[in-house]
Amino acid sequence: MKIFTTRRQIREYLSAQNPATVGFVPTMGALHNGHLSLIAQAKQGNNIVVCSIFVNPTQFNDPKDLENYPRPIEADIAKLEQAGCDVLFNPAVTEMYDANEQWHLNIGPLEHLLEGEFRPGHYQGVTQVVYKLLDIVKPDTLYMGQKDYQQIMVVNRMIELMDMPVKMVMCPIEREADGLAMSSRNIHLSPADRQHALVLSKTLNWVKSNFDIDNIPQLQQQAMEMLKAENDVQPEYFEIVDGESLLPAGKDSTTIVALTAARVGKTRLIDNVLIK
Ligand code: PAJ
Repeated sequence: MKIFTTRRQIREYLSAQNPATVGFVPTMGALHNGHLSLIAQAKQGNNIVVCSIFVNPTQFNDPKDLENYPRPIEADIAKLEQAGCDVLFNPAVTEMYDANEQWHLNIGPLEHLLEGEFRPGHYQGVTQVVYKLLDIVKPDTLYMGQKDYQQIMVVNRMIELMDMPVKMVMCPIEREADGLAMSSRNIHLSPADRQHALVLSKTLNWVKSNFDIDNIPQLQQQAMEMLKAENDVQPEYFEIVDGESLLPAGKDSTTIVALTAARVGKTRLIDNVLIK
């Protein structure tokens, strides 16, 4: 695997290779099987697979979260080698941003709904970094996880607004055997929290099994009660929404998704399930 830390090096390498197709998997590292499933899917459809590892400061609304974000770069490199990734882009913050750089993209209601309400500025930081990464890597296809469902809708909106020539592939959520969605933040869970965290996937599955389009407000309320009933779990939201707009689901919604976020002990977790 080739490893680049500057924009110029990776640009020069990719243009010299001139591959028929490039698949791109942006990450913040601390790689787990969820990330590796994206690499595997990218490998199936492309001549070159590029992964980026960059803990993007502009998308963290909580400085402690940024500080505590795991950065096991050596282990990550070994996992990417094993997965057959061709190119790793691992820039420093100063390589990606000038001091006092400004960014704002009007992504409409998506910015303030759900995650946006609890993580102000988060999606501005996400669009800022994904825009820059796409401009550097110029992939044909971008592989992102359903785990961060709203992030996919936000990036799709950016691609549409900026008319960027890239196709998005949404990859399914990889889970531990007991249902917990894999996440780089799971390492912060104590053994007790790790057990309590199962209430997220259990509640999402319960809602999926009991789904009734005429009963959405009651289902959301019952789900919040189920989450609150678990020790050390503080839910932030549980919403059943239209899969594209993320506004309230209706009879004409072609896709419907249930999304939740909760603090489990000190760790904030998100999860979701496609209902329709
Ligand atoms: P990160 O949290 O590292 O996730 C990188 C990619 O892996 C995202 O597309 C995410 O949805 C996917 N992913 C995470 N957990 C997954 C799981 N259990 N199953 C399948 N896919 C999973 O998301 C980010 O980084 C950043 O916001 C980024 C897009 C890189 C911009 O900084």
